[in-house]
Amino acid sequence: MASSAGNKTTESKGLEGVIALHTGICDIDGQKGKLIYRGYSIEDLAKNCTFEEVAWLLWQGELPTADEKHHLERQLVGERPLPPMARELMEMTPEDVDPMAFLRTGISTLALFDSEADDPSSEANFRKSIRLTAQIPVLLAGFDRRRNGQPLVRPRPDLATAANFLYMLRGEVPGEEAMRIFDTCLILHAEHGLNASTFTGRVIGATLSDVYSGISGAVGALKGPLHGGANRKVMEMLADIDRSGLDPAEWIRQRLTEKARIMGFGHRVYKTLDPRAAILRDMSEALAEERGNRKWFDMSVKVMQTMEQEKGLYPNVDFFSASVYTTLGIPTDLFTPVFAMARITGWTAHLLEQWADNRLIRPRAAYNGPQGRTTKR
Ligand code: CMC
Repeated sequence: MASSAGNKTTESKGLEGVIALHTGICDIDGQKGKLIYRGYSIEDLAKNCTFEEVAWLLWQGELPTADEKHHLERQLVGERPLPPMARELMEMTPEDVDPMAFLRTGISTLALFDSEADDPSSEANFRKSIRLTAQIPVLLAGFDRRRNGQPLVRPRPDLATAANFLYMLRGEVPGEEAMRIFDTCLILHAEHGLNASTFTGRVIGATLSDVYSGISGAVGALKGPLHGGANRKVMEMLADIDRSGLDPAEWIRQRLTEKARIMGFGHRVYKTLDPRAAILRDMSEALAEERGNRKWFDMSVKVMQTMEQEKGLYPNVDFFSASVYTTLGIPTDLFTPVFAMARITGWTAHLLEQWADNRLIRPRAAYNGPQGRTTKR
């Protein structure tokens, strides 16, 4: 602790190791590689739950009863239709726009046409959490179809969030294995404590701003390559390795000699294997086997082994998501928006928690600029 202008302060670059608040939503043990949502291990939830059940768990603190689950699924289906202006936005957006920039603007656009946007009641905030979870996939699939000159695909009420997204993207219902794997991906990406985007959302929420402002800010933070933007960079790297014709180990060693950061490795909290990466690795292999194409999976394993040998760094959630999403036919630049499509549940759970016991979040900066200047000559 140091003293600054009469206030007690403590300093940590990048806020590493700082406890900024208490939460009952998510616990991470970075030494043991454990991830817990509301008391349940990620392995248990990934194996035994659907994305919708996990969303309810994050928002409400308990897994839903059969009735609650059914009701939530119906609400999500009912909230899917977009306001006309959101469809116009898809038409107007240039084809080469980064889908994360489209999503950020799309969320702001949805706010303009939600009569509850500025209703701060917990009931309205919960309804908006469900609405955004329902509408983000529709927005993203529509954007992708439009930029490819394809007609929009209407959502199917009999399909859950994961399956419906793949359906709207490609115009055909995915197979059972693809549906289940993608649903699990959404569970794995739904929540992760006070990461950069969630912190951003909570900082905005703590000013008593609104859900849409908090979520647009969170999307902006997720876009960066040190956070959610890494999954897209991983696939670009795998494609570069493929084009180079080099052995993946050799390619990585060369990049490390140039002091490059290898995307999809390292983590502020995990000092061992990210448990989500272990689940994604198994799913990536299962998909590769099912599709009879092990190219991206085998290359990823070689990269992983080299990073462990050379740097002692393990893959994070973004690393094996790249090969999984590519095998599922998701375009590379949609990987980070897909992350947002899942994380909307964690972000909104954190906003609801923030407002249940709010205090403005306002750290200090240590001034290191010039002193004692005067404009008098
Ligand atoms: N490749 C090469 N070196 C690395 C990497 C990496 N991916 N990650 C960390 N290092 C090195 C870094 O160069 C530094 O070495 P030195 O002390 O010799 O300068 C040391 O490890 C510590 O790095 P740091 O940047 O101080 O650590 P951090 O806790 O601030 O960063 C991180 C965490 C995730 C930003 C970083 O590991 C990284 O840049 N990884 C690549 C991007 C990535 O995969 N991001 C996704 C994060 S997890 C999912 C998500 O939140 O979206």
